[in-house]
Amino acid sequence: MTKLWSGRFQKETDRMVDDFHSSISFDSRLYKYDISGSIAHAKMLARVGIISHLEADAIVGGLTGILAGIEAGRVEFSVAAEDIHMNVEQLLIESIGDVGKKLHTARSRNDQVALDVRMYLRDEIDGVGQLLSELISVLLDISEKHLDTVMPGYTHLQRAQPISLAHHLLAYCQMFSRDMDRLVDCRRRVNVLPLGAGALAGTTFPLDREYVARELGFDAVTENSLDAVSDRDFAVEFAAAASLIMMHLSRFCEEIVLWSSAEFGFIELDDAYSTGSSMMPQKKNPDVAELIRGKSGRVFGDLTALLTVLKGLPLAYNKDMQEDKEALFDAADTVKKCLLIFRPLVATMRVRKENMAQAARGGFTNATDLADYLVQRGVPFREAHEIVGRAVAYCLEHNKSLDELSLEELRGFSSSINEDVYEAIAVARCVAARSVTGGPAPEAVQKAIQAARQRLGR
Ligand code: ARG
Repeated sequence: MTKLWSGRFQKETDRMVDDFHSSISFDSRLYKYDISGSIAHAKMLARVGIISHLEADAIVGGLTGILAGIEAGRVEFSVAAEDIHMNVEQLLIESIGDVGKKLHTARSRNDQVALDVRMYLRDEIDGVGQLLSELISVLLDISEKHLDTVMPGYTHLQRAQPISLAHHLLAYCQMFSRDMDRLVDCRRRVNVLPLGAGALAGTTFPLDREYVARELGFDAVTENSLDAVSDRDFAVEFAAAASLIMMHLSRFCEEIVLWSSAEFGFIELDDAYSTGSSMMPQKKNPDVAELIRGKSGRVFGDLTALLTVLKGLPLAYNKDMQEDKEALFDAADTVKKCLLIFRPLVATMRVRKENMAQAARGGFTNATDLADYLVQRGVPFREAHEIVGRAVAYCLEHNKSLDELSLEELRGFSSSINEDVYEAIAVARCVAARSVTGGPAPEAVQKAIQAARQRLGR
C-alpha cells in the first residue's frame, strides 16, 4: 500500500520502522473523535469555499459510513497507515475515491492529533467527574446514618480524640470535591480548539476556526499555532488531577485495609468485594482496596512519563509526543476503574459501631476534654495539660480509664474537679462539644453534609 506521504521517497519504509513508529494499536480508540473532527473540518472547508458543498457532502457521507463500519467491527486498521488519522483518511479515499483526497486540505496531523486528544480528554474528564460525584453521594448517605457513631480520631495512628464515622467520611468528601474542582479547571484549558494551527505555522487558507469550534463544542480557539501543536500541558494537568484522586483513594483504601483487620474490627467488607486465599481457608482479604492502593503507583507513573516525554522538547511538534497517549489513556482508564469499584465497596461495607465506640473509649481520647474542663474552671491550659498527663500515667499504672477513676482519685490531681466531670468527659459528649464549624459534633457534621449536597446538586 503506498503511503499518504510517499511522494519524496524512493524506497519503501523498513518493516521494522513501520512497526516501531505506528501508533494505530493504541490510538485507534480515538476514531470517534477523529471522524467528528474531520466532519466539522470538511463542512468548514465548504463553508469558506475551499471545497464545494457537493464534495463536502461526499466526504461527510463517507466518514459517517466509516464510523458505522468501525462500530460494527467491519474495519481492520492497517499498521502501515501508521495512526488513526491516516487510517481514516485512507479508508475514506478507498470508499469515495479522489474527492476523499481533499479532506486534509489546510490541516496537518499535528493539529489533528491535538484536536482528537482534547476531545477524548473532555469526555474522560466528564466521566471521571460523574464517578466522583456518585462516590461523594454514597459517602454522604453513609455519613447521614453515622452522625452518632463514635470512633477514635488518630494522629500518628495513635488514638487521639473521639470523632464520628460521619466526620471521618466527610474528610474524604472534601478531598474528592477538590478533585472535582481540579477537573473542572483542567477542562477549561482542554476545551480550546487547536485545529487551524496546521503543522506548526497555520495555513494560507482562510479557515473559519470559530465555526469549527462551535460545531465541536469548544469554548475558544488556540492563539498561537506553535503552541497549539506542541502543548500537552492539559494532559499533564489531567494526569496530575488523576494522581491526586488515586492518592486520596489510596489513603482511604489503606484505612479500609486497617479497619477490616481483626486488630481494628471497625468494618467488615461484603463478601462480593473480598477475596479468599488459595492456601488458608479462613482468610477473607481486602484485595480490592489493596489493588486500588497499588494502582495509584501506575497513575503517578503516567504523570511522570508525560512530564518526562515533554521535558526539553523543542518547538513545535516532535514524534516524542506520540508517547503521550498510552500514559494518558492508562491514567484515565485506571482512575475510572478504581472509582467505579470503590463506590459499591464502601456502600456495602458493614460498620461495627460497638468496636468503634469501644476503641474510642480506650486510649484516653477524652484527655484533652479533661484538660479543657479544668481550663473552664480557671486552671491555665499548660497546667491543666500537666495535671491530666499525671492522671493518665496513674491510669496506665492502675489499668483504668480516666472516667473509671473515682472522684476522690481525680481530686487528688486537682481540687477543681467536681462531680460534673463525668458528664464532661463522656466520649459521646466529647464529640458533641466540638461544635465549631468544621468540627465533629453531629449538628456541625449535618451542616457539612447539607453544604456538600448543595455543591453536588443532589
Ligand atoms: N500519531 C501521531 C501522534 O500521535 C500523529 C501526529 C504525527 N505527525 C507527524 N508529523 N508525524 O502524535
